Amino acid sequence: MKVLVLGARGMLGKDLVPFLSAKHQVFGRDIDDFDITDLQRVKNEIKTHSPQAVINAAAYTDVDGCESNPAMAFSVNAEGARNVALGCAANKARMIHLSTDYVFDGSSLSPYREEDPPNPLNVYGLSKLKGEQYIEKIIQNHLIIRTQWLFGRHGKNFVDTILRLAERQEEIRIVNDQKGAPTFTKDLSWAIGGLLEKEATGILHVTNAGACTWYEFARQILQERNPAKRKVQLTPISSTELSRPAKRPANSVLDCHRFEKLMGQNQKMRPWKESLKEYLACKEDRK
Ligand SMILES: NC(=O)c1ccc[n+]([C@@H]2O[C@H](COP(=O)([O-])OP(=O)(O)OC[C@H]3O[C@@H](n4cnc5c(N)ncnc54)[C@H](OP(=O)(O)O)[C@@H]3O)[C@@H](O)[C@H]2O)c1
Repeated sequence: MKVLVLGARGMLGKDLVPFLSAKHQVFGRDIDDFDITDLQRVKNEIKTHSPQAVINAAAYTDVDGCESNPAMAFSVNAEGARNVALGCAANKARMIHLSTDYVFDGSSLSPYREEDPPNPLNVYGLSKLKGEQYIEKIIQNHLIIRTQWLFGRHGKNFVDTILRLAERQEEIRIVNDQKGAPTFTKDLSWAIGGLLEKEATGILHVTNAGACTWYEFARQILQERNPAKRKVQLTPISSTELSRPAKRPANSVLDCHRFEKLMGQNQKMRPWKESLKEYLACKEDRK
């Protein structure tokens, strides 16, 4: 299958492109090639490559940055997604789009299902939701994959931040009132590869299995790997104490049953703790 991946040089894109290339003819493009906010360019590129599927992993992902630059957030995450949908519709390509748990307000006591009403708390979430809504209106042949808390070899991520802080600080203060599922970009790439071969349309939640708070995630990282072998004090704090520009949902764990049903037996995403172990082992090997 011919597949065009947008955001190919992002954290997910850099795992996704080589993974899909084993089986498909993949064209990876990013902002240096063309900007998804340029409708004409998007249409031309999709026409030129004539892919059967376009995977849109391009986004403005700086959640706090979106608060101070909402125009940019909406331009990339909403209008950009709309442009890709228009380009796909005009060229009869299927659109697979990456979205986020931040479309929810996190007040639910149970994991969010695809049909639960969104209610974003921040500009990033609002702009990603607007992107979803454009896609749903413009192109029938679409799949929106909501995921969360990504970590991978090719981007700034929480795991690396904790390891770096552990080398420098005696104490690390981490929020303990936000819950989600850490998700390995390698595993998400595998899931997207599987979904390319399914007919599914609509919205789908895909994350690694299990859930934790950021504090619990940090504790697990340091249990697995403490590079300096130092005693680091990990202190749980509240989101209010951290006081970041963008408000985050308290419980945005996603219910992935629809994905599991679609993929069939033994095709589940593995528990995040297993993926973390593999990620840390890969980092160690590359030293
Ligand atoms: N990271 C997470 O925890 C997380 C959680 C939930 C959902 N998601 C979603 O998953 C997808 C992939 O995330 P990621 O973490 O891989 O993001 P990322 O590392 O920030 O990658 C996004 C890529 O898109 C590029 N880009 C930005 N604006 C663009 C534009 N106008 N035109 C073309 N390309 C543009 C970025 O280039 P620059 O780097 O030069 O800006 C970057 O290479 C995104 O849709 C994101 O919303 C991510």
